[in-house]
Amino acid sequence: MADIADPKLAAAGEARIEWADAQMPVLRSLGERFAGERPLAGVKVGACLHVTSETANLVRTLRAGGAEVALCAPNPLSTQDDVAAALADDGVEVHAIRGEDMDAWAAHVVAVAAGEPQITLDDGADLVIALHAQGKPPRGGTEETTTGLVRLRRLEADGQLQCPIIAANEAFTERAFNDRHGTGQSALDGIVRATNLLLAGRTLVVIGYGWTGQGIALRAKGLGAQVVVCEVDPLRALEARMDGFEVMPALKAAERGDVFVTVTGAQDVLGPAHFERMKDGAVLANAGHFDVEIDVRGLAAVASAHREVRPLVEQYVVGERRLNLLAQGRLVNLSAAEGHPAAVMDVSFALLALSAVYLVRSAGELDQRVHQVPLTLEREVARLKLDSLGVEIDELTPEQARYLSSWDRLGR
Ligand code: NAI
Repeated sequence: MADIADPKLAAAGEARIEWADAQMPVLRSLGERFAGERPLAGVKVGACLHVTSETANLVRTLRAGGAEVALCAPNPLSTQDDVAAALADDGVEVHAIRGEDMDAWAAHVVAVAAGEPQITLDDGADLVIALHAQGKPPRGGTEETTTGLVRLRRLEADGQLQCPIIAANEAFTERAFNDRHGTGQSALDGIVRATNLLLAGRTLVVIGYGWTGQGIALRAKGLGAQVVVCEVDPLRALEARMDGFEVMPALKAAERGDVFVTVTGAQDVLGPAHFERMKDGAVLANAGHFDVEIDVRGLAAVASAHREVRPLVEQYVVGERRLNLLAQGRLVNLSAAEGHPAAVMDVSFALLALSAVYLVRSAGELDQRVHQVPLTLEREVARLKLDSLGVEIDELTPEQARYLSSWDRLGR
């Protein structure tokens, strides 16, 4: 039995799911193939994923392949109640209500675990760990987040992991699409929505030049901003310089920037010493996972006053200058925009759908540990995405393939 907020929201949810579906051609083509091949016939899949329109399209793809799907949320705040209603209307067992308290949320995870799914799709490892706790580990599972993988690797190190896990989060496509293109665009989207700022002609400082920072820097450059990069890793700093960006220490960049984006994973990347040097009107945003990158308490301590000047924009007065903090230093792309676009989740979720089939087909052959996503699956997803874009590519000739795989190049 589903447990959702309001079944009457189903029509609104359906419209939202259809809107996302239009941006998810890879999942759609997999769904068509699955409907013929039925690779998940009779398989119970338990998914603990944000209950959104994109996830709904993944659920439909799995069901097209014959799976019976039960769904709960990894976070009490991430459920779209209308989408939950539309899925429940379809006959999916959904246990998720936006804003539920932690006890209700945990009970929903336990309800999905009680159905003893054979394959789990997690975003934080809650479902697969609940199954381990009740002594019914699944045949295999996938994991979407770093935090979940940390928990599962701990379980593995303690000798307690009782099924193979595919580290979907560490796939190349995940880095390239999710981090670079998804966060790259949506972080700037959040900044622009919150401030209505024109980025062209402004100096935007990106602190951290990992996959995510690279995406933000590239997109900001495309919008006409002068981009400055700050790094602590000489390799990444060199990469940024060779990519054509100015590179300098954050204290120096503090004097230059109009907009600052932290995306390091580290804490207190911008603190009082930086705030003291910033220009009047500077905008501060964080796209890193936790709200620790901008020292908000330090900002309040050096400020003489602060007030909300627009939704999601708090203005702090430091000396004669006004510094504008977005979304209280929380993930700007989720707080002020809509997170990753559906086209990005299309690739991530296609990988999950193929991983589920892979886990079913290799049942019993995979060790009970955390595995990387097989490259063949990543290539399949990339190929489907290229097809959807109408992009054709070349293939190696048999001679080229032989040459590339032989060590004896002189004697050929
Ligand atoms: P990454 O590890 O590839 O890059 C982080 C970079 O920051 C590294 O190059 C590191 O040298 C640099 N760094 C660390 N401390 C620094 C400091 N004090 N000053 C300057 N540079 C510093 O990590 P990735 O994948 O780019 O992720 C970064 C953060 O963004 C993480 O917190 C991650 O969880 C988060 N993230 C957020 C997403 C979103 O939707 N907003 C999506 C993906 C990741």
